[in-house]
Formats: sequence, structure tokens, C-alpha cells
Amino acid sequence: MRVAILTSEAVPFAKTGGLGDVAGALPKALRAAADVDASLVLPLYEQTDRALLRERIIDNLEVEWGGERRRVSVWYSEAAGAPAFLIDAPHYFARPNLYGYADDHQRFAFFSRAALELLKRLGSPPDVVHGNDWQSGFAVAELHSRRAFDPFFARARTLLSIHNLAYQGAFDPSDLGWMGFTRRETRDAFAHEGAAVALKAGLMLADALSTVSRRYAAEIQTREQGYGLDWLLRMRRERLVGITNGVDYEVWNPETDPHTAAHFSADDLSGKRECKLDLLRRFGLPEEPDRPVVALISRLVAQKGYDLVRQAAGKILETGAFFIALGAGAKEYEDFLQSLHTRAPHRVGVYVGYAGEPLAHQIEAGADIFLMPSQYEPCGLNQMYSMRYGTVPVVRATGGLDDTVENFDRARGTGNGFKFIRYSADSLLGSVYEALYCYAEPDVWRRIQLNGMRADNSWAAAARRYVEVYTAVKRM
Ligand code: ADP
Ligand code: GLC
Repeated sequence: MRVAILTSEAVPFAKTGGLGDVAGALPKALRAAADVDASLVLPLYEQTDRALLRERIIDNLEVEWGGERRRVSVWYSEAAGAPAFLIDAPHYFARPNLYGYADDHQRFAFFSRAALELLKRLGSPPDVVHGNDWQSGFAVAELHSRRAFDPFFARARTLLSIHNLAYQGAFDPSDLGWMGFTRRETRDAFAHEGAAVALKAGLMLADALSTVSRRYAAEIQTREQGYGLDWLLRMRRERLVGITNGVDYEVWNPETDPHTAAHFSADDLSGKRECKLDLLRRFGLPEEPDRPVVALISRLVAQKGYDLVRQAAGKILETGAFFIALGAGAKEYEDFLQSLHTRAPHRVGVYVGYAGEPLAHQIEAGADIFLMPSQYEPCGLNQMYSMRYGTVPVVRATGGLDDTVENFDRARGTGNGFKFIRYSADSLLGSVYEALYCYAEPDVWRRIQLNGMRADNSWAAAARRYVEVYTAVKRM
């Protein structure tokens, strides 16, 4: 089975969030679990470390674009543990950020076309083209019409994975024509409330759909969480599955982590204390290892529940806990974090910006409690990383957070974290207080930590489920 995974980001080449982690881990997991010939195709960005690239394997890939032929080159790498092809189109991708430009739709439509052109040049028809998020909507739409007249793609099937339904890739429909999307059926698939919407085209035309947890698969079929596309997801629900993301335990492993001050495991947690002291030092906080550290790492957007954090922060500090946050995004939340630090410099550690991998690992290893009070969360990875590092997650029961975190039950000694349901600062605080009470009883806390550390969220099971979907879609 040959699968080409198209993505806008993948570790170790480029990352802004969880999609990068997932796309970086899945091809390797597929190859290990089921001998699937999986490869990655992504853009070559300015931020990509050139040392990861092995060779330029194509220097003249022709891409039809706006009535002319553009030439791009393609780089090859195995740094993700599987073949990866990086499309070098500097006009669109040699920029400081991955996303956030007025021509994003053109950038990823171009990338999608180049990716299909590349597959053709490589010469072995893919069984499945597996796209991710709105950026791959263009590839799905293009393949859908192309396989009718291009024998190379005649048997190729498509799977589109939704990592976040809120990001849809809307643009002015008058761009569709010159970008080459001229067929009536294709244009209709893009059309949504007066705009052209790349995600909608993908959801409409893909042979199969998946998203990153079971709970989120159900949630996006409701009006409240459907972002205007719930009707389409209900219509195609027979084709939609929820597959919970895994954790790459080669990368997120407290026993071997190259970024942390010490190593530890479920059998010997002593190194965690050293990691905590190291974390406090890094943030210039007093070395008081008995005081709990409440931490948070996320994009600073409303999705992540920052409004609740803002309302609850004062009360959390009143408990005497340290508060450490890493994040980049909306200015209002960045300002809030800075002002919290100014208010309580000996209790609060803040890093505003995208810090890359080391600091994220150091926080996971050194913290005691990890907050994820998300409004919605398709899957969420940090709660699973936290559990592996003996850091107890406090989460809102939504999407993948609900699927992966089990509320601690004192009487039975079961559960690996704390969950609250209502989206309110009081509910968040209720769970934080509960966690802190347990923290004060070392034996109880140890039980919760071990329950989390022993949970198996590895990629193997998820990879097997993807193979089932690929197999089913191949028969369509
Ligand atoms: P999302 O994809 O919605 O951002 P996830 O929980 O799936 O949420 O994944 C977030 C990933 O991005 C994690 O690997 C996390 O450590 C990382 N991350 C988020 N913000 C930052 C940041 N400012 N610096 C470093 N890593 C970050
Ligand atoms: C998205 C979601 C996040 C998920 C990630 C990887 O960015 O917001 O919940 O874990 O994709 O699938």
C-alpha cells in the first residue's frame, strides 16, 4: 500500500502546533506497524533547518499555474524516519511565518498542485493521498476531477483529516478560475456562504474523512461546534471516523529525553524533582520544590481557554502555587501573561513566543499540573505528553481531552487527571483545587501520576486504524 501524506507542517521540518507533531510521527508509525509505504510531502519553509535535507532530487518540476508553467525544485529527507519530499517554491514559502498571509489560499493551492505533479514524476501511483486540514482541500478537489482523465491517478483515493474545523481557508471565489478550478462540480464544492472555502471542497470531495478523536468526530456534527459545516459532516457521517492521535514516545520519553535535566520513569520518579528545580531556575523562580508548579503551553488563541485562565489566574496564585506559561499568539493574551509576571515575579514564569522543542519538554518534565481548559479541542497532545512525564492534566471535558483523560476517583484509585465540564472559571478552579488537595497527599499524587505514566497512547494503535481506513477507501 502506497500512501502520500500531504501536510502544511511536520516535525522536524516545520511546526506551529499539533499537526506538526502528528504529521511527523504518522508515516514512521505506519511503516513500523503495517509495512505501509508512507511518505510525506510538505512545503520547504524559511524556518526549515537545511541540515535536515539530504539532496535536491528534482530541480525542474513543472507546475501549471495561472496560465503559465512555474518550475520548482524538490528536496528529499529521511529526518522524519520516513521519506519526505519538500517542495521548494521560494516565491510562496520563503517567508518568516508558516501562515497568516493574504495569499495563503494561493500558496497552498500551488503546493497541492506541485505535490500531485511530484507524485507523477516519482512514477509510482499512490493508493491513497492523505491530506490534512484546509491546506489539502485543494489537492483533494484537484485529484477528484483529475482522476477522470489522468490514468496515473485513476485508482488513487483520498482521505482528508480534520485537525481543526475552525480553520477553513476561505477566499474570494473569483480566484478559483485563474488557479485552474474551473469545473462546475469543483466550483460548487468550494462554494460556501458567498466565499470559496478550501476545507469545504475537501470535505465534499474526499473519498473518506477522519478527525483526531472520537468525541470530536461527534461534536463537529452539531450546530454548536460545526462551524457552519456540521450539515456537510452529518451528510457524510458514514465516511467520517475519529482516530485519536498517538504520542511519539521516541520524542516524548522522560527516560531518554535529551532536553531535560534528568531522566525518570514510572519505576523511579526521583529525576522529576531535579527537572522541577531546573525549570524553576530557568524561569528565575525561587528553588522551592515543594510548592506545586501549574503550567500551560499553547497557542494563545480563544480555543485554548485563555479567557478562563485570565479570570482564574489570581485565585490560582493565591493557593501559593507557581504558574509557568509558554505561548505565542493573540496580543491580548500575551499582554495578560506579561502583566501577570509583573504582578507576581516570584511566582510566575512566562515565555512569550514560539520556543521550539527544548523548553516545551522542560516544562512537561518539571511541572506538577498541566492546564488545558479548552473551549474545544480536536485531540490535544500536551495532555498526553504531560501524563507520560508524571505531570497531571487538568482539562475541560471536550474533544480529545475527554477521550484521553479520566477523572481521578479517590475511592477506587483510578483516573489520570481532573476534568470539568462547564466552560467557566469557577469550574476550572474547582478542578485545580481538587488537584492541589491531592498534590498535598504524596501517596495519592503518586497514584495519579503512575496511572498517567502507564497509560498507553502510542501511535501503534492509531496507525492500525489508519491502515483500516486506507484499506477500505482503496476498495471504493
Ligand atoms: P494545537 O495543535 O491546537 O496547537 P496540540 O496540543 O495538539 O494543540 O499541540 C500543540 C503542540 O505545539 C505541542 O507539541 C506543544 O508543545 C507545541 N507548542 C504550542 N505552543 C508552543 C510554543 N509557544 N512554543 C513551543 N511549542 C509550542
Ligand atoms: C489541531 C488541534 C489539536 C490537535 C492537533 C493535531 O491543531 O487543535 O487539538 O491535537 O491539531 O491533530
